[in-house]
Amino acid sequence: MRFRGRTIGFLLAGAMLMVSGGSVLAADPTPAEIIKTRQDSLKALGGALKAMGDQLKSGMPDMTVMADNAKKADGLAKELPTWFPKGTGEEAGVKTAAKPEIWTMPDDFKTDAANLKTEADKLVQVAAAGDASAIGPQMQATGKACGACHKEFRVPPPEH
Ligand code: HEC
Repeated sequence: MRFRGRTIGFLLAGAMLMVSGGSVLAADPTPAEIIKTRQDSLKALGGALKAMGDQLKSGMPDMTVMADNAKKADGLAKELPTWFPKGTGEEAGVKTAAKPEIWTMPDDFKTDAANLKTEADKLVQVAAAGDASAIGPQMQATGKACGACHKEFRVPPPEH
């Protein structure tokens, strides 16, 4: 009896391991998928700022569009540090502009990401306040935070 009970327990544990192992595998994106998702997210981040810039240029900025896009950029900036797990650099074997320094100088990378979040937070505030004259300078400050990280950690795009 005792032996049988333990055997059943063992089999059950094994079956549970297989189930959880299988689901973990299914949920785990490959490095190539992670890179694609992060590049799409970075494009969305660029898109949010561009939408704001377009509003400013229009001369009659729609403050709802401003506020919505500032929030979108801020949300993406908050997620950004999670988009670069180890193994998603050039070693992944797919096209990426992420420099190896992201993983050899992680503290610098985190600082750059945190600076962006700080500026994006302020952007949300000025956009919500609806003060068009404050939005331009804060967009520039945010753009500087993007550029600081790109200079250090991104292989420059060929068109530059
Ligand atoms: C902490 C670092 C960091 C910050 C801050 C940052 N970026 Fe980037 N960005 C990167 C890296 C690294 C890549 C290259 C990613 C890759 O190719 O895998 C990149 C790539 C991009 C791309 C190209 C995506 C593609 O492949 O099509 C865009 C667009 C972009 N960033 C926009 C922005 C904007 C806009 C901001 C600021 C609002 C910003 N980034 C802030 C690190 C950063």
